[in-house]
Amino acid sequence: MSAVNLGLPRMRGPHGVSEPRPDNPALIDTFGRVATDLRVSLTDRCNLRCSYCMPAEGLPWLPGEAVLTDDELMRLLRIAVERLGVTDIRLTGGEPLLRPGLEELIARIAELRPRPRLSMTTNGIGLARRAVRLAEAGLNRINISLDTINPETFLAIARRDRLSHVLDGLAAAREAGLDPVKVNAVLLRGVNEHEAADLLRFCLDHGYHLRFIEQMPLDAQHGWNRRDMVTAEEILALLRAEFTLTPASEPRGGAPAERWLVDGGPGDVGVIASVTRPFCSACERTRLTADGAVRSCLFSNDETDLRGLLRNGADDEEVAQAWRMTMWGKLAGHEINDAGFAQPIRPMSAIGG
Ligand code: GTP
Ligand code: 5AD
Ligand code: SF4
Repeated sequence: MSAVNLGLPRMRGPHGVSEPRPDNPALIDTFGRVATDLRVSLTDRCNLRCSYCMPAEGLPWLPGEAVLTDDELMRLLRIAVERLGVTDIRLTGGEPLLRPGLEELIARIAELRPRPRLSMTTNGIGLARRAVRLAEAGLNRINISLDTINPETFLAIARRDRLSHVLDGLAAAREAGLDPVKVNAVLLRGVNEHEAADLLRFCLDHGYHLRFIEQMPLDAQHGWNRRDMVTAEEILALLRAEFTLTPASEPRGGAPAERWLVDGGPGDVGVIASVTRPFCSACERTRLTADGAVRSCLFSNDETDLRGLLRNGADDEEVAQAWRMTMWGKLAGHEINDAGFAQPIRPMSAIGG
């Protein structure tokens, strides 16, 4: 059972919770949540080796034939938008900029109707020379990972000396009109936690919206340890030593980040407290992996192979129904804080964050 009490009665299909509601075309679950936000992993590969994500030697990447082709992916996205009510599509990885033909893919996604809002989560390497083309192709906004503005700390965390590439990518994203530009930072105890205020100052100066993320048990090497996680409470205390934080007034909706205005605004900072302040009760997300598996949750232990359906000649409605079934089975929340928690087999880099 989940530790998250949603305060909602569970809904039932005609034959119990294991049956989807036949009268509802959307991605609804038995707690009444509706997934309208699709996170798509375009590749499991990455060109950084962040210590909280994967080992220094990298991972055995998916073989090429396992990855959805552009046409297969577009068919699934069309089904999601036209039949399942998806309104927002976020491109993730691994590192999505490593997907060949990304600009063309974005242009094709932007042609779907109703036109989904399109965002991407990236490490920013190589973005500097592509931001304009990505924006022109139809990308609306972007989230870029940056844990430090100190080159030595960057090398220590990412195991690659690429800080300047990321900073150039951030500037290019803003200049290309991607709006907002958000920055994601993971704090590691004894590594970069003392740099949190510097990072915030940098983001405020440049108009980037910084969010600190609690480290989650999703690393490939299964090295997560609760004591090493810098908690939301600790992050806020670090920041309050140097800034005045006041809770942002607009409703949070399904967003993972809780937001605060810094020194009265307009600059802000967010905290994504997946572990200590779970936000699963408002979850609007569904996930598609690069090899075509649908997951109802970042922490799901099961997933549905849509690629197999596509390659075996299923029609659109069969694919849509398999997707609905998967989401109907979505649990109340992740179970990180439960004694029996088991980390999902797929690491974060192969799910799409
Ligand atoms: P916005 O729409 O810009 O707010 O995007 P986002 O914050 O949902 O996306 P992003 O890819 O930038 O994710 C930031 C962090 O939030 C990552 O560490 C994600 O893994 C985490 N995150 C995103 N969605 C979920 C979720 O459904 N559950 C949990 N636990 N964490 C999530
Ligand atoms: N816990 C929390 N955040 C993580 N990210 C990668 N691995 C983890 C983890 N184990 C972050 C990346 C990126 C975002 C998509 O997820 O730094 O900003
Ligand atoms: Fe949604 Fe699962 Fe993330 Fe919770 S952990 S917010 S249910 S995807």
